[in-house]
Amino acid sequence: MKRVYMDANATTPLLPEVMEAMRPYWMERFGNASSVHQDGQLAHAAVDHARATMAEFFNCHDAEVVYNSGGTEGDNTAIFGLLNPGDHFITTSIEHSAILEAAKRMASHGVETTFVAPQPSGLIDPADILRAVRPETRLISVMLANNETGVVQPVEAIGKIAAETGIFFHIDAVQGAGKVKFDVRRFGCHLLSISAHKMHGPKGIGAMFVRSGTPLESLLVGGSHERRRRAGTENVPGIVGLAKAAELAMHSLEDGTIGRLARLRDRLEAGVLQIPGTGVNGAWDGDKPVPRVANTSDIWFDNLEGEALVIALDLKGVAVSGGSACHSGATEPSHVLMAMGVDKTRARASLRFSLLKTATEADVDYVLQVVPEAVEHLRAISPVASGTAG
Ligand SMILES: Cc1ncc(COP(=O)(O)O)c(C=O)c1O
Repeated sequence: MKRVYMDANATTPLLPEVMEAMRPYWMERFGNASSVHQDGQLAHAAVDHARATMAEFFNCHDAEVVYNSGGTEGDNTAIFGLLNPGDHFITTSIEHSAILEAAKRMASHGVETTFVAPQPSGLIDPADILRAVRPETRLISVMLANNETGVVQPVEAIGKIAAETGIFFHIDAVQGAGKVKFDVRRFGCHLLSISAHKMHGPKGIGAMFVRSGTPLESLLVGGSHERRRRAGTENVPGIVGLAKAAELAMHSLEDGTIGRLARLRDRLEAGVLQIPGTGVNGAWDGDKPVPRVANTSDIWFDNLEGEALVIALDLKGVAVSGGSACHSGATEPSHVLMAMGVDKTRARASLRFSLLKTATEADVDYVLQVVPEAVEHLRAISPVASGTAG
């Protein structure tokens, strides 16, 4: 059976070029980048070369790039590494759990957090961030693109607020990487986190931009790796793969790939919206389209259970994800959609389609063939549709 993977915001496969770039660093170039001998120096040179690529990707200096294990570590580091008892922290209620759970933990360390809610469009209003500022606010953290809706936040405006009020600013840019052109100077951030596996790189490796002079305490201590900002032997194959993925992502942003992806996503969305009782979460702000990353569409389907549709589509060879998360065995509607004011039933009946950058017209054709049939079938048998659900 044909399989179409439309869950790129969960993870992506390596591109062949990434695999090829990494290959020698598992075996013949296995050295420890801290060793003085030639084997070590080969690894060291690869890490340095990758750092120059990452600096270009972020638009920063090489010395402002810190490798780590991915998005969760970057998000945690920003929070645990900057905040002290008595500080106030501002973030949003639509962040990834790597931010939300870290903020929760800081509550027991004397750090109070304000969670700014989005507009119904999914956009954060910078004026709401400004209103939340207090004399003791030390850090603002706002995501670049939301993992569920794909909505791109006005980070530049928030960066200006941070600059004017003298507050540190972190951006969780995990879902923006490879989809939005980065420029940390224009964004006005002190810290920015990314993860390779969301942009066709390997899992378990990521990087942070740390603006020079930012007093960020490292999460891990030990050796003097990464200028003492992140201890631990460098994951050389991972770092090489991350940089190759970043290099390819920079090309994709210039060569029309991302524009093509947006057109594919728009065709998919228009096709699915032909089904009665459907709509997009986070697409419109009144009559203005909301900025979204090119690959994401979060669609609600009235009169069915989202999880049932995820399973039905999987059985037909289509991988997507639902707008619910499983917590202690119960499915809870997405905190992102709830924060946007979407009602519980609709949030539970929402699906995220997120396209790989290698997605094809044939993939979209197949999904447009399978989704209407699956929806029709589920609605015919659904207790939600027949009104017998509790
Ligand atoms: C917005 C966002 N932040 C952080 C993360 C965590 O990244 P990682 O999987 O690299 O730990 C994710 C992953 O889903 C994400 O979507």
